[in-house]
Amino acid sequence: MSYQVLARKWRPKDFGSLVGQEHVVRALRHALDAKRLHHAYLFTGTRGVGKTTLARILAKCLNCETGVTSQPCGKCSTCVEIDAGRFVDLLEVDAATNTKVDEMRQLLETAQYAPTKGRYKVYVIDEVHQLSGHAFNAMLKTLEEPPEHMKFVLATTDPQKIPVTVLSRCLQFNLKQMPPAAIVAHLEHILREEQVPAEPEALALLARAASGSMRDALSLLDQAIAHGAGRLTARSAADMLGAIDRAFLLDLVAALGSGEAAAAVKIADDMQARSLSFDAALGDLAALLLKLALAQTLPATLAEDPERARLAELAAAIDAESLQLYYQIALQGREDLPLAPDEHGGFVMTLLRMLAFRPEGAGERSEPPAAAKRPSPKSEAPKAAGWPELVQQLPVAGAARELARNAELQRREGNAFDLVVPKAKAYLAERGYGEKLKGALEQHLGAAVTVKVSVGEIAGTSTAALEAGERDARRAAAAQSVQSDGFVKDLVNLFDAKVVDSTIKEERK
Ligand SMILES: Nc1ncnc2c1ncn2[C@@H]1O[C@H](COP(=O)(O)OP(=O)(O)OP(=O)(O)O)[C@@H](O)[C@H]1O
Ligand SMILES: [Mg+2]
Ligand SMILES: [Zn+2]
Repeated sequence: MSYQVLARKWRPKDFGSLVGQEHVVRALRHALDAKRLHHAYLFTGTRGVGKTTLARILAKCLNCETGVTSQPCGKCSTCVEIDAGRFVDLLEVDAATNTKVDEMRQLLETAQYAPTKGRYKVYVIDEVHQLSGHAFNAMLKTLEEPPEHMKFVLATTDPQKIPVTVLSRCLQFNLKQMPPAAIVAHLEHILREEQVPAEPEALALLARAASGSMRDALSLLDQAIAHGAGRLTARSAADMLGAIDRAFLLDLVAALGSGEAAAAVKIADDMQARSLSFDAALGDLAALLLKLALAQTLPATLAEDPERARLAELAAAIDAESLQLYYQIALQGREDLPLAPDEHGGFVMTLLRMLAFRPEGAGERSEPPAAAKRPSPKSEAPKAAGWPELVQQLPVAGAARELARNAELQRREGNAFDLVVPKAKAYLAERGYGEKLKGALEQHLGAAVTVKVSVGEIAGTSTAALEAGERDARRAAAAQSVQSDGFVKDLVNLFDAKVVDSTIKEERK
């Protein structure tokens, strides 16, 4: 039999096997046994605490062939089909993907017909808060005068977003987060049944990391078992959790490097949902930035790192100044964290600062401006003729782009390129950068190419140097107005003045 993830395999099939939520179970049992049925139920609670599970159990209670009951038999074809997710009169809708009013209308039209097989047609609408206003209105009509044979079970993580008109017609149950002790006990039970040996501290670690979600606890358990090759030690659980936390940070730095604000904020939200410490995260972020900066100058420092491939990729994609800047802002952000309205807000603000103060051109992946717009070189260096123009046409991003922009062409013989970079950009002479540029050149020229990069004196004809010269004049004008801006003044006081200076951009007209 194929492997089934633990969370699915161990989805409780009746009230008795559900962990916690006693207050809800008691009320539902009582109502079912007394046959006092409501026509719409709403389960609220954070993710992975049993909303969908309860909705399915309730559907069984209402339709079990032994009669409406708080103890569905689990054996009749109705119970079996509901467990297998293929009962005709149980309609599960994910509102997150069916937000439109037309879909809602269509769904509700079918509600007019009697159930095919069961006693009731049960509509489970998951993530109901995602429905559009019109869809809610369409639903409201049915909620006001529901057909006898129809039951609604709504579930949401965000009840605030549900109109009161809908709320007032539902019997609402608030599910609680799973306490760590309950999670540990449940994991122990499952591990015993699955015959997986486990150290108790490993379970405590997983329970803490799950922050109240049983589903998260079970999927972490899945990963930890895989990580520990079939057994569960505290060591392997800690390793695995550490790797997950680091993955968050790596994704975050990648988002910063490419200027994706939405992605960066999303990661902060995910960290919030997982209750990661933002203070620790800023410390870890600074450590990661340091590691990347080191890798740019001394690639050998990554040799032993288990994440070296990803780290090398990031080190190549983000320029050195940006890393310095992020590092500084991370340290400052950590200091400011206790003063922030809340930790999540303080963390997000720190990320926005990093994004706002990226050095010009950092991480841009757009196509280069038309070659026609290039300024003519200040000093004609005949050997370098054509290189900036070639750079303009190269389909390069990240590392190769950095190198291409900062290098001057010393000599070109056929397709053998000898490039030189200034001392300040010595890290670009590392092999990885040259390799990437070689790839880009080969793609562009359609022929085999060799690239040699050395460190030395430059004449000021690299694309970066040309742009810097062009920029200086405009920047002088821009700096005047920028310096007098109050917000900028505050930031200048907070951060190194040099940093601010290198990031002034003239407005695009
Ligand atoms: N109270 C619980 N007791 C036992 N297992 C649970 C409980 N809650 C969740 N689980 C486990 O987590 C899995 C997912 O639960 P469920 O789908 O009910 O969560 P949910 O509250 O609907 O979450 P979401 O908001 O993410 O949809 C279940 O298959 C089950 O394995
Ligand atoms: Mg659910
Ligand atoms: Zn049954």
